[in-house]
Amino acid sequence: MAEHSPAETEITSLAQARAAARSCTRCPLYEHATQTVFGEGPRDALVMFVGEQPGDKEDLAGKPFIGPAGKVLDEAVEKTGIDRRRVYVTNAVKHFKFVPRGKRRLHQRPDGGEIQACKFWLELEIAFIKPKIIVALGATAARSLLGKTVTIGKLRGAPIKRDDGATLFVTNHPSYLLRIRDKADQARERARFEEELSMVRSAI
Ligand code: URA
Repeated sequence: MAEHSPAETEITSLAQARAAARSCTRCPLYEHATQTVFGEGPRDALVMFVGEQPGDKEDLAGKPFIGPAGKVLDEAVEKTGIDRRRVYVTNAVKHFKFVPRGKRRLHQRPDGGEIQACKFWLELEIAFIKPKIIVALGATAARSLLGKTVTIGKLRGAPIKRDDGATLFVTNHPSYLLRIRDKADQARERARFEEELSMVRSAI
């Protein structure tokens, strides 16, 4: 049975959070996006990957990380031996932010206010899933999870213990890897991304 949408203050389960997020108006991004894209994965996930926001494909399908960035993430998860059945994927911001350009919709980075507004949902996901490990993919996720703007390069590779007991890893966003033009550079960055996911695997 579909969960009806409870008031945000009455949420007591992940299913209720998902239902309530469908009608979220905490920031203006809901006005142009197709739908809220909530996280997906098992209730007993050990690892939670947090991206930036849904992309074009995710916005249309209503599912996170099903486009090209998701493919890079899936490949790295598989290669490093992280059990996909214990992985939850979500985003710091749950609506697609874009500018129309002809027939295309060009991704726009969410701002501090949008990240802060959407942190409500991310915190609920973390509270209900209680992942052992959280992986911030890129600067927006890291900013949401750490509550300040950060430089990925300074934080990657060094796990951070959170007050709730989870361990936070910060790494690059898979979309960043896809944007690297030079093949050798891209291969090197992919290898580094996989190394960092291997650290995640070892910490599970
Ligand atoms: N990029 C993200 O950060 N999240 C998605 O779901 C897809 C692309």
